[in-house]
Amino acid sequence: MKFPDGFVWGAATAAFQIEGASDVDGRGRSIWDELCDQPGAILDASDGSVACDHYNRWPEDLDIVADLGLGAYRFSIAWPRIVPLGDGVIEQRGLDFYSRLVDGMLERGITPYATLYHWDLPQALQDSGGWTSRDTARRFADYASVVHQHLSDRVTYWSTLNEPWCSAFLGYASGEHAPGRTEPAEAISAVHHLMLAHGLGIQAMRANSTDSQLGIVVNMYDVQPASESPADLDAARRLDGQQNRWYLDAIFRGTYPQDIVEDYRTFTDFDFVVDGDAECIAEPIDFLGINYYSSFMTRGLDAPKSPLSGERPTPWVGCDDVEFVDRGLAKTHMGWDVIPDGLTATLERVARDYPVPSIYVMENGAAYPDEVTDGRVHDVDRTNYIEAHLKACSLAVSAGVPLDGYFVWSLLDNFEWAWGYERRFGVVRVDYETQERLVKDSALAYSAIVRANRWSPDESSA
Ligand code: FCB
Repeated sequence: MKFPDGFVWGAATAAFQIEGASDVDGRGRSIWDELCDQPGAILDASDGSVACDHYNRWPEDLDIVADLGLGAYRFSIAWPRIVPLGDGVIEQRGLDFYSRLVDGMLERGITPYATLYHWDLPQALQDSGGWTSRDTARRFADYASVVHQHLSDRVTYWSTLNEPWCSAFLGYASGEHAPGRTEPAEAISAVHHLMLAHGLGIQAMRANSTDSQLGIVVNMYDVQPASESPADLDAARRLDGQQNRWYLDAIFRGTYPQDIVEDYRTFTDFDFVVDGDAECIAEPIDFLGINYYSSFMTRGLDAPKSPLSGERPTPWVGCDDVEFVDRGLAKTHMGWDVIPDGLTATLERVARDYPVPSIYVMENGAAYPDEVTDGRVHDVDRTNYIEAHLKACSLAVSAGVPLDGYFVWSLLDNFEWAWGYERRFGVVRVDYETQERLVKDSALAYSAIVRANRWSPDESSA
């Protein structure tokens, strides 16, 4: 594998998934606290109130990042810790927590990569419409500005949103994620307001300082048709459009893809789009973050399938006639196909089709049902997954893709949303009874790759 000088090696987490301490230091409730209280919403009926207790154990967690030789850590800031009621009243203790966390990173030589929104909307904003309300986008920009003013003297890299597709379509169409709505029209309005929040957030941070590196993180998939039949090609067009092009076209071309706009007209008249929104969303960014886990092969059916009883509606609006083909590939514990080639294809496609200055893989990793044997976790599958995807990254780099870094998901086993603690993505195991951390074999393997490829300014000048 070959990686360029200065390539950034990191691990990623998100606030709600690890912090716990959900009613400490004035934190307000988020839509995820609310969803966790709904019977049946979370597989193991768990919640984020304790999670990995990272709010208290962060020094130990940052020590692990440093011990593994990682130069960067991607974390998210919990909006309800900073603006508990979403209104404008700032909770200083929330800012102080992230200030300590950032100082802790810098003391250990770890570069912070901050994400402003990883799905934990203040519940008070949900009560007034959540992402279906334009006001939420403005509130986001105010919140982004406050945090940025507070930390941008020490944090250079800022992402506005993590995976707006998930917030909008898992949150408002399939209802698997908070706020648990199943209204396709709301999902389309939500995705627009999320993108607007991104643009307004970039503008607000740019107005504070021009030294920051600003971006957004999207989840992408390589989508292949099952055959060249018109129905299969159209299924792939729709999936790719909803999942990939919607975001990249808006950001880099200043327009939503026209074919998907037409498809969505069955559900909405887009009366929530205002003149000037497109320009705002296309505010120039410094980097694009890509989260990559898997890819899809799609087939178009003759007629829409109605969901089986108990099954959730599809998050791909209007795609009830799209079937996902089982290619017989190895799967992770999430049931997601392992397709490293799809990562190379995705990176090359983004670099070819869009004027993107810099790309980071901001998340990549896999859940497997780990076992502890003699005090070790021999997670061979996860190790292989990470190595294969790093090779995929290295191929993209050789092909000229401006890939500047890779963050493994995740540093720790954590609260995997609707799956609760039943899916383990960490390269470090968390024993939820004792909160003990155990470095898995995958972390050691990743660390060895990082050390072999790490570049430091001292070495280069020697
Ligand atoms: C991504 C999320 C992250 C984690 C991984 C497995 O979609 O950004 O929080 O849940 O999936």
